Formats: sequence, structure tokens, C-alpha cells
Amino acid sequence: MNNPEEVEFQFSTQKFEEEWVGKALKNFQEDGWFSGVLYRVKGGKEAQVYCCKASPGMGVDLIAAKIYRLRRNRAMKNYAQYQQGRHITSDKRYLRALKKKTRTGKAVEDRAWLKHEFRTMQMLYHAGADVPQPFELSGNTILMEFIGNARVAAPLLREVRLDPTEAKPLFDRCIENIEIFLSCDSIHGDLSAFNILYWNGAITVIDFPQAVDPFDNPSAFSLLVRDVERVCQYFSRYGIQSRPVDIAADLWRRYLQREL
Ligand SMILES: Nc1ncnc2c1ncn2[C@@H]1O[C@H](COP(=O)(O)OP(=O)(O)O)[C@@H](O)[C@H]1O
Ligand SMILES: [Mg+2]
Repeated sequence: MNNPEEVEFQFSTQKFEEEWVGKALKNFQEDGWFSGVLYRVKGGKEAQVYCCKASPGMGVDLIAAKIYRLRRNRAMKNYAQYQQGRHITSDKRYLRALKKKTRTGKAVEDRAWLKHEFRTMQMLYHAGADVPQPFELSGNTILMEFIGNARVAAPLLREVRLDPTEAKPLFDRCIENIEIFLSCDSIHGDLSAFNILYWNGAITVIDFPQAVDPFDNPSAFSLLVRDVERVCQYFSRYGIQSRPVDIAADLWRRYLQREL
């Protein structure tokens, strides 16, 4: 009989993984979010995602737990570019720790990315963008809507072969999402077919820790152009011709003129 306080794994794990995941998910499990971890989704650059079985009455069957590996900024390319203008904390103690790069300082910095990702997802979800519904943030973990089923997670857009008829509507929807992000003063900043899931004929954009606010970030326009370019590049294999710089410039002009 398992200890009810222990996180239950329904797949084979290594001891260190059980400890790491157990520690990250214990509070959520105690709060009744889910009853066990069904499987590990293929990991990304910065985080490991797990598919969890939601407790009865949660309104969903499955929950994704995105658990960050520590020190995410070490692996992040162009860290300074994203960090420009980012508000981390106004607490003087923490500001001192951040400046001196002490352990507390690094922990505050790590947490700032998670908080930023969670809040960005909340804002975009409520604005009607195709992002997983964010549920809860605690420690180094974000709980959100799981895209996929109890056996498999949704594949990345780059892993699927689209039907020729669905490519154009999905391309349009990707651009619409970029427009919704911008209307919320947000640019994804790492958008590509690696951060877009495909499930039941629809797309879901994920992975927001590096999202930037154009008001704070002088590189905003070039990040927007790059996001649009990567989407256009992916869809060009389906014969969709587009002019990414023109699309980005048009979005940017409408954004600056407050037409979005
Ligand atoms: N809500 C979700 N539902 C299903 N799979 C997800 C979800 N969020 C992330 N994933 C999977 O986990 C991987 C890593 O998540 P991601 O947010 O992209 O973090 P990273 O910064 O590690 O790339 C993704 O490539 C995707 O396969
Ligand atoms: Mg990713």
C-alpha cells in the first residue's frame, strides 16, 4: 500500500527522478490536484513535462506539470536580450542578492522566469489565444491543461505531416495568435514549430518564459520578425507563400497605432 502523501508514479522511474518530481509535485498532490503521474513527456531544453491524472471533480482528466530544471538562464540563448526591461522584484533585500549573484539572488531570478511564464499564459489564455489553460504555479513547477491523451502527448507541429487542406487555416491561426499576443503587449520570442503542439487538427502555442513586452524591450520588433519568419518558414513546405517581414511590419504598425 502506497503512502497517500507520496506522489504515485504509473511508469518506471529512476530513484533520482522520483525524488526530484516527488518534491516538485508533493504540494499539488496534497492540495488534491491529481492522483498520480501517468508518464513523462519528452523533455525540452529547460523543463521536463509530466502527464498527471487529474483528481475527480477537477473539470479536466489530465494535467500537465512543467517542472523546471534549475538555473534556466544558463541554457538560455541571448539571455540579456530577453531580460532587458524585465521587472524582477522591488524588494531591496532581493535586489541586493540579485546584484551580488548570491544563491538567493539566483533563486529569485529563476523564479522570476516561471512567474513571468505563468502570468503571460494567464493573460493570453483569457484573451482567447491558443495556449494551454494555466492552473497553478508553485516552486519550480507550473500546472496547466494537458494537450494529448492518457497515452500520448500531442506531437510538436514539426513532427506531424499536415493534410494539404489544413495547412493554410493553421498558418492563418498561427499569425492570428501572434496578433493576439501583440494586442496583449506580448511577443513570444521563441516561436517555431518546436513550440507549437498539434492535436485534433488544432494548434496550441507553448513555452512562454522568454516572452517580451514591446514597451520594455528595444529588440521587440526583431523578435517579432523572427517569430513570424519561423512560422512562415515552417508552412512554406506546404506551398504557403508569405512575406514574413511584411506581415510583421503590418502587425507592428497596427500595434503602434493601437489598432490591435
Ligand atoms: N501543456 C502541454 N501538454 C502536452 N505537452 C506539453 C505541454 N507543455 C509542454 N509539453 C511538452 O513538453 C516539452 C517541453 O515543454 P516547453 O514548454 O516547450 O519547455 P522547454 O523550455 O523545455 O522547451 C514540449 O516540447 C512538449 O512536447
Ligand atoms: Mg520548448
